[in-house]
Amino acid sequence: MADRSPLWHPFTQHGLADPAIHITRAEGAYLYTQDGHAILDAISSWWVNIHGHGHPAIAKAIAEQAATLEQVIFAGFTHEPAERLARRLLRLAPPGLDHVFFSDSGSTAVEVAIKMAVGCWHHRGKPRRKIIALEHGYHGDMFGAMAVGQRGPFNAAYEEMLFEVAFLPFPEKGAEEKTLDALKALLNAEPDSYAALILEPLVLGAGGMKMYAPSLLKDLADLCRQNDVFLIADEVMTGFGRTGTMFACEQAGVTPDLMCLSKGLTGGFLPMGATLASADIYDAFYAADRAKTFFHSSSYTGNAIASAAANASLDVWESEPVMERIAAIGERHAKRLAGLKGDARFANVRQCGTIAALELRAHDAGYFANVGATVARAALVADILLRPLGNVVYVLPPYCISQSQLDKVYDVIEDAARA
Ligand SMILES: Cc1ncc(COP(=O)(O)O)c(C=O)c1O
Repeated sequence: MADRSPLWHPFTQHGLADPAIHITRAEGAYLYTQDGHAILDAISSWWVNIHGHGHPAIAKAIAEQAATLEQVIFAGFTHEPAERLARRLLRLAPPGLDHVFFSDSGSTAVEVAIKMAVGCWHHRGKPRRKIIALEHGYHGDMFGAMAVGQRGPFNAAYEEMLFEVAFLPFPEKGAEEKTLDALKALLNAEPDSYAALILEPLVLGAGGMKMYAPSLLKDLADLCRQNDVFLIADEVMTGFGRTGTMFACEQAGVTPDLMCLSKGLTGGFLPMGATLASADIYDAFYAADRAKTFFHSSSYTGNAIASAAANASLDVWESEPVMERIAAIGERHAKRLAGLKGDARFANVRQCGTIAALELRAHDAGYFANVGATVARAALVADILLRPLGNVVYVLPPYCISQSQLDKVYDVIEDAARA
């Protein structure tokens, strides 16, 4: 079974994994394999592919942009696709975000946000270096992003290299006060030390699709505001309709100081990250002093083709009934999950917009639980792509998925649980 592939795949233990499946083509909710299977992509290929694979309008926009202007240094130069995209993102985002910084991925969007928050306090002449985060959070695999994420087997080798972060207990249902009290205690003990609180609004994705109420998000945001601590909303997974609204923060009426976007930004076609910032933060760097420059870039910052893909994806939002599709997925999830709620094989059956999750009661739990790999294999036999997080099975489909395709996913989960 083990696969000594020359390619080193992400989050893959090659000593245990089956050989990677060759995909030759993708369209709508399906991935087509070299050996003739059509696999239903129930997790939007790691949560990026919002409209479905191969949307022709996005593919066309990419081809046209590639033939016109593929890339230009973004320091001192600009171009229409990025200018237009920035204006559109700011129009869509909660009011109070005024500037956009482009980067390459979710992790880089987070790194940029952390650097902006800490850099802002530095430039204000009141240095604050400590960050607060939520237990079970995941923000990416670069060093800064790792530091603010849940510590565990994934980052154990690097633990001593990660900067110190104060973690708030995850707001379990009915125990939300504990999280708020922990934040209050930190801010009372060291009122001028914390630069920012970073969190995934409403749903902690890789940490196990853990969900919490918008009211708690609002309370945390209010506490940050009252105590002059920046709020960084990592909407890398929750953004672009995932939770039922364009951005999860909307459901709490919260405007963060910094917002991180990626994944669905280009409709799942190309890597791109964006960090949206308030004028307050931008202003701390805005000066006639070169030392206050935001010293951050990557070679492909503001890439023209990725910008064109993102604009084309936003056009799809405007020209197709995307919100109706999202609502229909939400309704189907609710219906099928209702049928699983009393089932002894499942626990913590839950939903937020287009995201559905449940836990399989098994002898082993946690990320390394065998039951997750077993379910993934069983699903693949039925030509469904699922990738449970340990014993947490979740469905996070592209918005083009049909009701009958979604039903098939649930049937397979039920069959796998039975087996
Ligand atoms: C909430 C969140 N933030 C950041 C990231 C990192 O994004 P990327 O894998 O594009 O670096 C992820 C990836 O899953 C994520 O879910």
